[in-house]
Amino acid sequence: MSLLQLEDVTRTVIAPDQPALTILSGVNLTIEPGDHVSIVGRSGSGKSTLLNLLGLLDLPTSGVISFDDRPVKSYSGARRDRLRGASIGFVFQQFNLLAERTALENVTMPLLYSSGRTFWRRKKIAAEMLELVGLGHRMTSMPDRLSGGEQQRVAIARSLVRGPRLILADEPTGALDLDTGQSVMELIDDVAERTGAAQVVITHDPMIARRARRHFRLDRGILTPVDDPAFEPLTRREMREMAPTEPSTDVTAEGGDRDVLELFGVPTDDTGSGATARADAEGEAASEAEGDAPADEAATTDRKDA
Ligand SMILES: Nc1ncnc2c1ncn2[C@@H]1O[C@H](COP(=O)(O)OP(=O)(O)OP(=O)(O)O)[C@@H](O)[C@H]1O
Ligand SMILES: [Mg+2]
Repeated sequence: MSLLQLEDVTRTVIAPDQPALTILSGVNLTIEPGDHVSIVGRSGSGKSTLLNLLGLLDLPTSGVISFDDRPVKSYSGARRDRLRGASIGFVFQQFNLLAERTALENVTMPLLYSSGRTFWRRKKIAAEMLELVGLGHRMTSMPDRLSGGEQQRVAIARSLVRGPRLILADEPTGALDLDTGQSVMELIDDVAERTGAAQVVITHDPMIARRARRHFRLDRGILTPVDDPAFEPLTRREMREMAPTEPSTDVTAEGGDRDVLELFGVPTDDTGSGATARADAEGEAASEAEGDAPADEAATTDRKDA
């Protein structure tokens, strides 16, 4: 059984008064449990678009995406959100921490949308996760008091706190120096190995790409496996050409806190606006931080689904 499968996936966007733009075409990719895949590609080749599909944040224009061998198109938007929250952890170049929350509150946040025992033990689980990433002594620190490497560790703790089966990383070391970047990758590898999570890492950095077991290149929306075992992913010239020259179009890049909530499976409505549900959830996160009794919508719905 595969964890995630893309079959002949295409993503096309249509802007007003513009011809249709095909960003991804004929993408086939199967991610097995515990897999470790790297994807490299030039700026604008479609990496973030692909990551949004892998992360169930977007649906393909054509082709089939299956999670646990079930087409994700058959899920409602809310169910897809819950699946994402429970099964997928995101690590981005921008750490996307909630600026007004402590390290511990940031890591606790995804657990607000879990159910049962996990929900009630959320603070202990989050604290243990922060210990694991070496930040047990910074639980009450606000993000702006932490170094870049420490902020990325908090973001990683938050991504992994629900024990995702798939870790999706988009330039995870892009904002870090070489040594910090290496230790952050070791941390992700370590947690992935312990929990059996699969990893898909999108990167410009050949050293990071080399850590993966299977390697792919994305070129103008076409994904190709790189078979060479010695794996020389890119020449220096190619790397220079690939460095982003424009602001990134990542879903999380320009967003405030709300975009972050979506990554953790905070239910959005099926019309696609999602603003109300997310605003409510944000309020819930705030009231939890103040110690109010929780109204755990997600937990209730999970039980109904079971
Ligand atoms: N919603 C959209 N509407 C129009 N064009 C889009 C949309 N989303 C992406 N694109 C275009 O599709 C191409 C691929 O975008 P994408 O963000 O996936 O690239 P990328 O490989 O992640 O680039 P980078 O390395 O700079 O982050 C780009 O040319 C981008 O401008
Ligand atoms: Mg991108």
